[in-house]
Amino acid sequence: MKNVFNINQKIGEIASKFPKAIDIFMSYEIDFCCGGDRSLKEALKEQKIDEQEVIDKLNECYNEFVNDNNEETDWTKSSMTNLIDYIVQKHHNFMRETLPITNELINKILRVHYVDNGEMLSKVSKLFNSLKLELEEHLIKEEEVLFPLIKEYEKNSSEETKQKAITTMNETENEHDKAGDILKEIRRVTNKYEVPETGCNSFKIAYEKMQEIESDLFNHIHLENNILFRKLKNSK
Ligand SMILES: [Fe+2]
Ligand SMILES: [Fe+2]
Repeated sequence: MKNVFNINQKIGEIASKFPKAIDIFMSYEIDFCCGGDRSLKEALKEQKIDEQEVIDKLNECYNEFVNDNNEETDWTKSSMTNLIDYIVQKHHNFMRETLPITNELINKILRVHYVDNGEMLSKVSKLFNSLKLELEEHLIKEEEVLFPLIKEYEKNSSEETKQKAITTMNETENEHDKAGDILKEIRRVTNKYEVPETGCNSFKIAYEKMQEIESDLFNHIHLENNILFRKLKNSK
């Protein structure tokens, strides 16, 4: 395991290098926003949190992240069942973790920056809320209806099961387009996630999180539309 982080680094520096560190900071209620200029050591001492525990978590999480993103599996050659398990474990779980945290951050910056950026941020907040609701329901539909049908079809090759799966798949494909459109609109409203001069660390982090969601979702949709759904349609 590579030890990338140490206790003397500044909190803001760690969060910028590795945005997933924010989740760890939030779980310990470490202020990475206005307190971002302090060293991790200082913050942990103040809150009486065990240094080694936090550093280990940060390094473990970083190594996991690097490993996950380095793997190059050719999914066109895998079974649909394995691909589904991968999508749920990697992308659905990512969304379940990241959507609520990002929503909280957006609410926070909306409150703090209401006077200078209220009009734009309230648009972002509305758009993000609708994205969150859409996606949360979408994940449930895939996990509870579509994916079990595809798995069943892969086992029994029944034409009837395949047709049911394709009907649901067409609906979920439309939902992908809808989510993509909302993300494009957020990109437009935020002027490509350009943080205004008055924007604080939380502002930057909220924008980073939204961009992480965007890029993860595009990879996720690619695996579903271009690989999984195509496999289903072409299977005999
Ligand atoms: Fe999905
Ligand atoms: Fe999907």
